[in-house]
Amino acid sequence: MLVSPELIEKYNVPVPRYTSYPPANYFSDTFGPDDYLSLIEASNQAEPAHLAFYVHIPFCKKICHYCGCNACALGSASQVMPYLEALKKEIDLVCKLIDPARKIAQIHYGGGTPNAIDVNFLKEINEMFFERFQCIEKPEIAIECHPAYLDFNSIDILKQAGFNRFSLGIQDFDNKVLKLVNREPSKIAVETLIEKLKEGEKPAGVNLDFIYGLPGQSVQSFVETIQKAIEIRPDRLVTFSYAHVPWLKKNQIILEKRGLPHPDEKMKMFLAAHQILKNAGYTAIGLDHYVLPDDELSKALNNNKLHRNFQGYCTRETTGQVYAFGVSSIGQLEGGYAQNSKDLKTYINTLKQGELATEKGYALREDQKITREIITHFMCNKGIIWKQLADELALPVDFLKSHANTSNKTFEEFVNDKLMVFHEDSIEVSETGALFIRNIAAALDKAYDKQLNIYSKSV
Ligand SMILES: C[S@@+](CC[C@H](N)C(=O)[O-])C[C@H]1O[C@@H](n2cnc3c(N)ncnc32)[C@H](O)[C@@H]1O
Ligand code: SF4
Repeated sequence: MLVSPELIEKYNVPVPRYTSYPPANYFSDTFGPDDYLSLIEASNQAEPAHLAFYVHIPFCKKICHYCGCNACALGSASQVMPYLEALKKEIDLVCKLIDPARKIAQIHYGGGTPNAIDVNFLKEINEMFFERFQCIEKPEIAIECHPAYLDFNSIDILKQAGFNRFSLGIQDFDNKVLKLVNREPSKIAVETLIEKLKEGEKPAGVNLDFIYGLPGQSVQSFVETIQKAIEIRPDRLVTFSYAHVPWLKKNQIILEKRGLPHPDEKMKMFLAAHQILKNAGYTAIGLDHYVLPDDELSKALNNNKLHRNFQGYCTRETTGQVYAFGVSSIGQLEGGYAQNSKDLKTYINTLKQGELATEKGYALREDQKITREIITHFMCNKGIIWKQLADELALPVDFLKSHANTSNKTFEEFVNDKLMVFHEDSIEVSETGALFIRNIAAALDKAYDKQLNIYSKSV
């Protein structure tokens, strides 16, 4: 894929990421625990009926200089037990409001580093969910792990606890790069860890995370890292663009002295990795996720049925309303979003008093729910066949289309730049257009305001 610098210049403007609709800047601090309780109660009558639980474990053994997550160093470990108590309290408060006949489709542990603490604690939390609810036939029980802290014993415990999908944060196979960003390499070879995860009656699915744009990386070195990943052949793989936000994340400032690659170099890293992953048979999901061709996500993409929620890409069968637990976590229910306090002490103390730590959120209007379906479907499937989506939502085509900008005028410039193809009954994004899909989604979004200079740039 060739992308001219002029095209990048033209479309590299602030646009929402659309990981939620409406975007997170709509969340309001007038939304509090009572509003979240109302959303939870309403969620029992809404679709999707399945449950998706997110559990945030904010602790890490040490902080990587590039980290943009809500993470804190373990230090004396004195906060772990009060945090786990608060989590259990929150799970109790929320789960008693959920209809017990509903089934678990997903549980996802993110962080921080969930495997930085004794993994038996995670087993206890899973048991709390399994005691209250049954699971669908093939639930996705996933965990983000730092490979340096995984060993055979912890893998055995995690698999016994029900985990069947492991995401390992590799970032780069070059130890020089890891050293520059204050990160420990895996002690056990990654291929050996994967063999262990895949052994036994219930082989787990494995995803590997990488980041491009870090100090010490070049196009050549990043290609070597991705080639090594391809040899290991994980089921799924993500290449994250390093998000440098030192005004929000002070830990990143030091990387400016260690030599961040130029944006052109960064783009070349992405494109080179994209090409060799495609040549190796991986299917590109969204912009930067890759899966093997027999993966359910690849099949869903081919059938225009790919979906996503805050836990990541999924299908309509495996999606659920997301109930989120832990500091800074965001719930995503049919009626809206609710985010917990980002401050660890506030979160723990609020739950200690038996109250929810909801700090902000947003309740959606009915028309916004329809726009959300359009934007999510478009971002996941890189296009829309209007009749197909209207049938799925049981809505008339014209009514559906009236919830977005859909005329040929809207897309004229993108079509001229060969970023997409427009037909009255469908729109389809080209391979190059996928790089600028956020720009096209913003054009579809009637509420997008160009003047609002608060979003990150699209490239
Ligand atoms: C919560 S971490 C994964 C689990 C574990 N803490 C680890 O680091 O291995 C989620 C992923 O976010 C990505 N990430 C973190 N900070 C980032 C940043 N500033 N820009 C882009 N990706 C980032 C990394 O690839 C990381 O694997
Ligand atoms: S990248 Fe992972 S291990 Fe590193 S600080 Fe962030 S959450 Fe912790």
